[in-house]
Amino acid sequence: MNASGPGCCIWMTGLSGAGKSTIASVLAARLERRGRTVTLLDGDIVRTHLSKGLGFSKEDRDTNIRRIGFVASEVVRHGGAVICAVVSPYEATRNEARQMVGGGSFVLVHVATPIAVCEQRDVKGLYAKARRGEIKGFTGVDDPYEPPVSPDVVLTTLDCDAEECAATIERLLEARGFL
Ligand code: ADX
Repeated sequence: MNASGPGCCIWMTGLSGAGKSTIASVLAARLERRGRTVTLLDGDIVRTHLSKGLGFSKEDRDTNIRRIGFVASEVVRHGGAVICAVVSPYEATRNEARQMVGGGSFVLVHVATPIAVCEQRDVKGLYAKARRGEIKGFTGVDDPYEPPVSPDVVLTTLDCDAEECAATIERLLEARGFL
């Protein structure tokens, strides 16, 4: 089995609770079925290892994103597929990650679930805490989220389930010659 191919980074940005992790894991399984080795860098997991100790100030978020961008660039350089599922709220820092990886290998996916829907789902109960002021600087509540200026894919997630969202990304990867 040829586990490597043209290296590619699928960078998924969006609010907490938008569905990034769910779509990312479905996509990872789909790519693995096609014989690719997949590295998944999920914000919540990265923050327990690579970025342990970092908080959510702009500075710490930027450090988190730069670390993930660095690891992603290494995976891509070795012909792997890497999926990064992180809020990554700042346009400039996402662009830095794109530059690290190399623009030709970088696919930017905006998981654009409206905040009202993320908040209604509130899987981790964090929006409720943020609204009560128990968490300060929560993205979308009292901290900024800058929507990507030029995403390759925008998924609202309202009209499609995770499997369909992942399939949309997979088709784009195919069209771009990554699969
Ligand atoms: S990022 O801003 O540095 O890209 P990252 O994706 O790693 O964020 O982590 C986001 C996750 O951390 C959220 O899904 C949520 O579970 C948790 N979290 C805790 N505090 C915050 C906060 N202030 N803003 C956003 N997410 C937070």
